[in-house]
Amino acid sequence: MTEILELRLDELHAIGALPDGGTYRPLYSDAWAEAVKRVERWFKDAGLKTTRDAVGTLWGRAEGTDKGKSIVTGSHIDTVRRGGRLDGALGIVAGLTAVETLLATKGKPRRTLEVVAICEEEGSRFATNFWGSRAITGRIDKVDADIAQAMRERGLDPAKISAAARDDIDTFVELHIEQGALLEASGAALAVVSAIVGTAHLEVTVTGRPDHAGTTPMELRRDALAGAAVMIQAVESVARSLGKPAVATVGRVRAEPDQINVIPGRAVFTIDLRHSDLSARKALEQRIRSLCATVASERGLQFAIRMLQEWPPVPMHPEVRAVLARAAQDTGVAAEEMVSGAGHDAQILAARCRVGMLFVPSIGGRSHCPEETTSPEHLALGTHVLQRALELLAY
Ligand code: GLV
Ligand code: MN
Ligand code: MN
Repeated sequence: MTEILELRLDELHAIGALPDGGTYRPLYSDAWAEAVKRVERWFKDAGLKTTRDAVGTLWGRAEGTDKGKSIVTGSHIDTVRRGGRLDGALGIVAGLTAVETLLATKGKPRRTLEVVAICEEEGSRFATNFWGSRAITGRIDKVDADIAQAMRERGLDPAKISAAARDDIDTFVELHIEQGALLEASGAALAVVSAIVGTAHLEVTVTGRPDHAGTTPMELRRDALAGAAVMIQAVESVARSLGKPAVATVGRVRAEPDQINVIPGRAVFTIDLRHSDLSARKALEQRIRSLCATVASERGLQFAIRMLQEWPPVPMHPEVRAVLARAAQDTGVAAEEMVSGAGHDAQILAARCRVGMLFVPSIGGRSHCPEETTSPEHLALGTHVLQRALELLAY
């Protein structure tokens, strides 16, 4: 099994590979389209009936002998910019390999089994996060013009997005890398996810006054970027002082007019805030808002905070967690339970079906970077447990 997993992961990684390391397969890009085509061929070769939905998510289906809702596994096919080899790709490759093995060894399933390559989860090209799973759950209510254009360029009709919604999924299970260092630290080879943290994405706009960098004395400046820098420090220190599992990240900063000899009149930065407890997440946000207000008033700046997207923490379904724990036990693996600090499609799909996730360790806790790796043994072990879980659910 290790060989086929590694081979398929290498093949996917090469699609969108960047000259200086890592890979980039943003939604509806050429690399994305090529990757979907490659996975479609794998699905067909495995004997799965393939379809693409209205947003470009690829499904591979093995019809069950019983009528009823499907058992689904898979993950997202897009990546972050300079992403690694496993985030998303593992769930697709492991899901396919597990289903293929089950079909070859156990024959036709009782429940319909599906593998899915979800078109987008990362929000790395457009602010689309969870585009595929939001379409599956019928939760896309607006389509920005740039996304609509990109869809049309791929032959997809934005007016038909609602056709992607599914109400015939019973259970979704996904194997993913942990993307953190907890499993490595504890020495466990596998975790059953208990819940996924809640996240808020905010955008802060700081407005000052653009002036000449050479002639404006320091005390007369209203430098938006210098103010933003103090706010960014506050974001970090508030999350630190609240303690684990609170995290806060400023991942994007833009200054205007973005010139070496002009004092920035405007600075815009994003904040990604996460916590497993919704009220703690909101408290974190509140403290950041009030600290930013203090910084702005001390420096004669204006500031506005806009909520871009917000997702509550989502527990995994207890029955699916039990199936995953039993699958680990049957496979002879001692599994831990853990909360996912990363976002996953399961948190969106939970609105429509039972969901569960398995994590395998990330070496050095590295992820969302080219160094993202998991040992081949852990990749195979996670796939075996996933396979056993699918067998328990579908046969
Ligand atoms: C997705 O990987 C996220 O957690 O932002
Ligand atoms: Mn990711
Ligand atoms: Mn992922």
